[in-house]
Amino acid sequence: MSKVTCFKMAELEAFFQENSLPGTCTKSENEAKEFIKYHKDTGNHVAFVTSGGTKVPLEGNTVRYIDNFSIGMRGAVSTEYFLQHGYAVIFLHRGRSLEPFTRHLQNLRLLDILEVNSIEHGSNSSVVVKSDYCPQVLNVLKTYQDVMKKRQLLMLEFNTLSEYLYLLKACSLALSSLGNRALLYLAAAVSDFYIPKDKMPEHKIQSSEGPLQLSLELVPKMMAPLVMDWVPDAFVISFKLETDPSLLISKSKQALDRYQHQVVIGNLLDTRKREVVSVTKDQENWIRLTDKELSLGVEIESKIVSEIVEKHKKFCSHDCP
Ligand code: PMT
Repeated sequence: MSKVTCFKMAELEAFFQENSLPGTCTKSENEAKEFIKYHKDTGNHVAFVTSGGTKVPLEGNTVRYIDNFSIGMRGAVSTEYFLQHGYAVIFLHRGRSLEPFTRHLQNLRLLDILEVNSIEHGSNSSVVVKSDYCPQVLNVLKTYQDVMKKRQLLMLEFNTLSEYLYLLKACSLALSSLGNRALLYLAAAVSDFYIPKDKMPEHKIQSSEGPLQLSLELVPKMMAPLVMDWVPDAFVISFKLETDPSLLISKSKQALDRYQHQVVIGNLLDTRKREVVSVTKDQENWIRLTDKELSLGVEIESKIVSEIVEKHKKFCSHDCP
């Protein structure tokens, strides 16, 4: 293990010790292990997609927290395209952010689309979808049920930064058994700052104590141990979000250089739904939607995932000539 990796690992272990294991994580970790074992035996490729923002609590009994803009669109949409390409997918997402399939029904109010179906000559009633909404619901439901029948999708939830980091590590370690068949697509918007447990007040911060001054510490970067130690043979894609266009390419290249993984997808906050840049060791490739494609509802993730799948295929064939 290199000195740099040793250092990062120590930093990260300290983070996990400081921030006790969140309760629901063990169950999610076991589900992930079982899912990965199943797909290892069936010979499938597995994509691990992270999605949504992380919550950083300000109080032990949390009333307030720091959040970010991410709605989890990139991860949810990309998951559907990975499934279409035949991948099994572990979708690690922030609770209440967008999910694959149900995102298509996001504009519908559950109670407005249902009606009671009273069965003649009986006291039993059932609930059915109103006929106007049937085509839309049926379409999504059929695809979802087909995917779930094949055990192709596992959805795991996190809320806080600690939960995210814990599950990222646990799933990555489990994925390492798949070698180059594992693909990590890290689209979550992870907080760079947090308050360690021992510096966090237990109870709600009182405004009667005057203006609030916060001191946040840096979250250890997980990319180094992830790429070098947890899943060294996997195909890893990280994302780089910027708001200043002049920094996008240089920051993406810097990330690739620093962590030595396979692809960085760079995107700008304002234009992220219509253009991204895919940066690898040898090239920068802009992926864009034309005005016509935008008007037809083409999703940029369909193009990003196609490109990633091609690259992953090449990566696997280089490894196993
Ligand atoms: O969810 P949407 O609203 O659809 O938006 C999608 C998106 C803009 C969030 C997505 O496309 C995106 O760019 N995600 C990454 C944004 C980001 O916060 O990047 P970053 O610069 O903080 O981190 C860069 C990479 O390092 C990320 O892949 C992250 O997984 C990783 N990281 C981050 C923090 C940390 N402590 N350790 C890490 O390794």
